[in-house]
Amino acid sequence: MKQQKRIAMFGGTFDPIHNAHINLALAFIKKLKLDKLLLIPTGVPPHKADLDIVYGEHRLNMCRLAAQDYKKIEVSDIEVKRCGKSYTADTLRQLKEIYPDSELFVIMGADMYMTLDTWREPDTIFSLASVCTVPRDNNEIEQLKSKESEYSKRGCKTVFLDLKKSDISSTIIRKTVYDDGVISKYVDPKVEKYIYANYLYMNKSVINYDRFDKVLKARMGEKRYIHSVNVATEAKRLAKKYGADVEKARLAGILHDITKETPSEEQLIIIQRSYIKLNDVESPSPKLWHAIAGAAFVRYYMGIDDEDIFNAIRYHTSGRANMSVLEKCIFIADFTGAERDYDGVEEMRSLANKSLEDAMTFGLSFSISDLAKRRLAIDPNSLACYNEMVLRTVGKKNGNKE
Ligand SMILES: [Fe+2]
Ligand SMILES: [Fe+2]
Repeated sequence: MKQQKRIAMFGGTFDPIHNAHINLALAFIKKLKLDKLLLIPTGVPPHKADLDIVYGEHRLNMCRLAAQDYKKIEVSDIEVKRCGKSYTADTLRQLKEIYPDSELFVIMGADMYMTLDTWREPDTIFSLASVCTVPRDNNEIEQLKSKESEYSKRGCKTVFLDLKKSDISSTIIRKTVYDDGVISKYVDPKVEKYIYANYLYMNKSVINYDRFDKVLKARMGEKRYIHSVNVATEAKRLAKKYGADVEKARLAGILHDITKETPSEEQLIIIQRSYIKLNDVESPSPKLWHAIAGAAFVRYYMGIDDEDIFNAIRYHTSGRANMSVLEKCIFIADFTGAERDYDGVEEMRSLANKSLEDAMTFGLSFSISDLAKRRLAIDPNSLACYNEMVLRTVGKKNGNKE
């Protein structure tokens, strides 16, 4: 006879998942001799309906990262995908359909166990799965035992696991991130990186460059990080020289390429979620998306809601007509940062020290002719910017002649 597979569901908000969740999962895998444990992040948790929890997609991704190193732990999206609130009875019914020949277990916190009889369809839960929980202390054991005998009359099988209480909680982690503290001892390094890369739980009303460093390092390689630092330094210098806001130049400079190493599909999602409309050249050209997605990420994901910074990042590769001094500083700093060593960089640097507009003309000629040589479309914003710069120079020359 085929042996029944033993499968446990471990549901929770997982906002975020942390080491104590994984330790609990591993302890139950051992104790119950499980074949599989499913981490199931809730959609809208019935008990936390009013709380501001992060997107299901992020919580799922963090669970997947945390489970990556454990063969028996899998992540299921059934609750996140289901519309409406997540009820354990519905999930167990669905699991019974997916795994009809399996013995099911459901893992929950002791506080949840104590109120289980007030949940939706407790008898369905009792009939479909054994309920597993962990007492938090000795006092609680008595209360749990009394509930156990109550539930057992209704057909519930309970499994208690004696596991040392952990001090880690998702609330502590969220608060630590919010206060710019260190969470590496609480979560898997991959989850920590994900939290920074996606700017989850951060205090968006405080500018903190150390935090930006962590975010940048989570989103890009060393080379691009150094480039970003150099662009910020150069943008600050130019802003000071030409009278733009130095702090904004630093911010726009350090963050200008924040989505440059982000896969283009993800860049497009960021753009679409921000309701930014791409023009006819931008739309079919993923190479042009990083500036637009970057501006949107900084404004909508990081909460830096500043029109000047948005535009400086948005147009840092294309340029546009009527650029502000700050926008020009970022555009040029991207060409003249300390690590740049292309042919012509010295000329560009020397022009940047004399006139922002002359440097813009030089930079735009360089990129427009390169695109034309490769038979690639030219962004109308770049052409408008180039024409403005060239006509300004021509106008000046004519003016000089007269
Ligand atoms: Fe860029
Ligand atoms: Fe750049």
